[in-house]
Amino acid sequence: MNFFRCLSLLVVMALVSGTIAEKANSSGGMVWATARDEAELVEDSGLVIGEQDQIDGGFSSLDGMLHWAIGHSDPATLKEAAKDAQKMSMDELQKRQVELKELVEKLNMPSDGKLMKIAVSDLNNASLSLEDRHRALHELLILVEPIDNANDLSKSGGLKVVAGELNHSDSEVRKLAAWVIGKASQNNPFVQAQVFELGALTTLIKMVNSSSTEEAVKALFAVSALIRNNIAGQDMFYASRGYIMLQDVMSNGSLDIKLRRKAVFLVGDLAEFQLQNTDQKAELPIFSDRLFLKSVVDLIVVLDLDLQEKALTTINTLLQLKSIEPLILRDFCGLQGALQRMKLQLKESMEDEDKRDYAADVETLRGEVELIFRKKLGLL
Ligand SMILES: *[C@@H]1O[C@H](CO)[C@@H](O)[C@H](O)[C@H]1NC(C)=O
Ligand SMILES: *[C@@H]1O[C@H](CO)[C@@H](O)[C@H](O)[C@H]1NC(C)=O
Ligand SMILES: *[C@@H]1O[C@H](CO)[C@@H](O)[C@H](O)[C@H]1NC(C)=O
Ligand SMILES: *[C@@H]1O[C@H](CO)[C@@H](O)[C@H](O)[C@H]1NC(C)=O
Ligand SMILES: *[C@@H]1O[C@H](CO)[C@@H](O)[C@H](O)[C@H]1NC(C)=O
Repeated sequence: MNFFRCLSLLVVMALVSGTIAEKANSSGGMVWATARDEAELVEDSGLVIGEQDQIDGGFSSLDGMLHWAIGHSDPATLKEAAKDAQKMSMDELQKRQVELKELVEKLNMPSDGKLMKIAVSDLNNASLSLEDRHRALHELLILVEPIDNANDLSKSGGLKVVAGELNHSDSEVRKLAAWVIGKASQNNPFVQAQVFELGALTTLIKMVNSSSTEEAVKALFAVSALIRNNIAGQDMFYASRGYIMLQDVMSNGSLDIKLRRKAVFLVGDLAEFQLQNTDQKAELPIFSDRLFLKSVVDLIVVLDLDLQEKALTTINTLLQLKSIEPLILRDFCGLQGALQRMKLQLKESMEDEDKRDYAADVETLRGEVELIFRKKLGLL
């Protein structure tokens, strides 16, 4: 069978199976889209690496392949197919779904390696339209999810091409390139090492300063994926003055709240890593930098429960580090006063029905942090 005929057949059937999912579930949304949405949620909450983010299979699974097939299909054909699918009965639809499964098994779809090669050679084509460039990066985003694929992209030189896109003049291209690098680097020391070699960490740190929030958020996501649990990465991050970037983001009230949450979450994560690796050499110097600490403490009185909770959790961890001076936290950072102000704010939030439970949880955490702090000061 001709490859493109197979492809259009596949898309028609994909829509049919999507319709089944929609019919079967009143909450709507195609079944194969849910795994991605979860990954997004995980990223957006600041938890850059979660179990959900490691979706098995990639293009070996139906998921990725259908995404890819749809990306490569004619919109008019898709529309027709969707109409046809709506007319079918549940029985017909289920029959089609079984056929689809069989077809996919028989069909010799191009391997993930081949698909990555096509995407990378597209990126290397200087006359490629912006739209196609975005699409090639979107494809890589799905393809790099399985760790073997991420490693292959690295070995084949594709990662270097993607890193080059971080300097593209189009903000969307830069954003997608950062996202691909972040995805490929998650929990993958091999890929992380190559990204460092390519000098991309410094570029990504600068990108967090972008006036496009989307670009800044993905750049910070990539930075986090590169330095989490990676000592060499953390040293390089420090040498590139990445902590100044974090401090700037935390203390700039006009920035998007998501970005500020991610920044303080990363600080907490770095502190936690330090705590778990006490046999490592000295603690990161940022944890004894009073201006840096103050930018964390100031966040607990910014009126956003999520941000406040993340800041408190971070302070909770910082208080357990050896290099932390409780007197600096009290006198220079004003932690005691901030905790008191926060208590009043939370009391007010608890009068709001929508916020009551969340505010109560944050108040519990606040109380714990206050207790630990008072112990550290020798008041208890
Ligand atoms: C339908 O939704 C329920 C609850 O939201 C979920 O547990 C179930 O897996 C969904 N079914 C399908 C076919 O998506
Ligand atoms: C590069 O992209 C242009 C525009 O899409 C296309 O016409 C051309 O064939 C591509 N070149 C190669 C070598 O693929
Ligand atoms: C982007 O360009 C800058 C300045 O030209 C360069 O120093 C840097 O290495 C480039 N980054 C990547 C990842 O290619
Ligand atoms: C970000 O921008 C600010 C203000 O324009 C500047 O002071 C700072 O050095 C920049 N940070 C980085 C990491 O480029
Ligand atoms: C804070 O962020 C805004 C928006 O990105 C930026 O224009 C401004 O320069 C930043 N302020 C500082 C002090 O870096």
